[in-house]
Amino acid sequence: MTKPRLYSGMQPSADSLHVGNYIGALLQWRELQDSYEAFFSVVDLHALTQPIEPAALREMTRRTAAQYIAAGIEPSRSTLYVQSHVRAHAELAWVLSTITGFGEANRMTQFKDKSARYGADATNVGLFTYPVLMAADILLYQTDIVPVGDDQKQHVELTRDLAERFNSRYGTAFTVPIPVIQKETARIYDLQNPASKMSKSAESEAGILWMLDDPAVSAKKVMRAVTDNEGSVRYDRETKPGVSNLLTIYSALTGRQVASIEDEYAGRGYGDFKKGLAEVVVSEFAPVRERTLEMLADPAELDRVLASNADRAAEVADATLADVYDKVGLLRRV
Ligand code: TYM
Repeated sequence: MTKPRLYSGMQPSADSLHVGNYIGALLQWRELQDSYEAFFSVVDLHALTQPIEPAALREMTRRTAAQYIAAGIEPSRSTLYVQSHVRAHAELAWVLSTITGFGEANRMTQFKDKSARYGADATNVGLFTYPVLMAADILLYQTDIVPVGDDQKQHVELTRDLAERFNSRYGTAFTVPIPVIQKETARIYDLQNPASKMSKSAESEAGILWMLDDPAVSAKKVMRAVTDNEGSVRYDRETKPGVSNLLTIYSALTGRQVASIEDEYAGRGYGDFKKGLAEVVVSEFAPVRERTLEMLADPAELDRVLASNADRAAEVADATLADVYDKVGLLRRV
């Protein structure tokens, strides 16, 4: 029996992934790779939409792939590859851009946020068409589900709209995918500023738990996380955003219910709670860090794995692209 398809990806836009990426996406990926035929990409073409040094991009692309593997994505079972290695992505994005409304793209909140942040001079057309490339990623693989954090939901909705539009205009070429968003963990917040999501582009490092942080540094960041004056370990997103975020992280990393963690720390102060969480974080990420660094010590082997996975991906992607080219009326080269 063939398994349903899963697709997801991350941008190689920092030296390390962070705990938001891990909890919001990677944990689901790892779990779902058994029951789905999974494709995981490192979306380097997307990363070009922000200023990035060429040498740094290459390094971050390998690092991101290594972290996927270190976190439990198995390249012999799931297809783990680099987006630019499969040419069909950029080609399908072009075709999809011709059925995307200007106003439709202009409504994407992430584009609005990023273009406001970078300013008019640094905002580029690639940033504007970014969600169309993301739609191409997903649609090339006849994807059934897309597990992401909630900041990507609007992009997956656009992907669905484009798939339906194409299918009804030209005949069915695409599976219409659904986003899969884990409600409790879809948004991990910054440790210093629990009103904002944890993000690679945050102003200060202190609120971001990087997967590749030295364990002592992670522990320190947890110990210094912003809490409140009440002193009780209790989940209440409205009035206790800092503590609630720490509880979410604790729960996601241990698989324990929030209520059981609240019980364990009842009557104890934040110091104890944070110490407990620091231990959880260190024991989760120290081995991931070690495995990642090991793989990065042998980049040639990693590059080989990525190349053979890209071949597997291209087989699926090229078939979809050929069908799309036929359907829109591009003359087939003999
Ligand atoms: P990116 O690289 O920003 O993030 C990768 C994944 O991590 C999730 N995430 C979070 N989840 C919970 N809390 C947070 N603080 C947090 N920060 C990030 C994101 O939701 C995402 O799932 N456009 C995508 C990459 C992409 C893609 C795709 C994803 C390109 N093509 C096709 C899925 C399918 C992005 O920039 O993710």
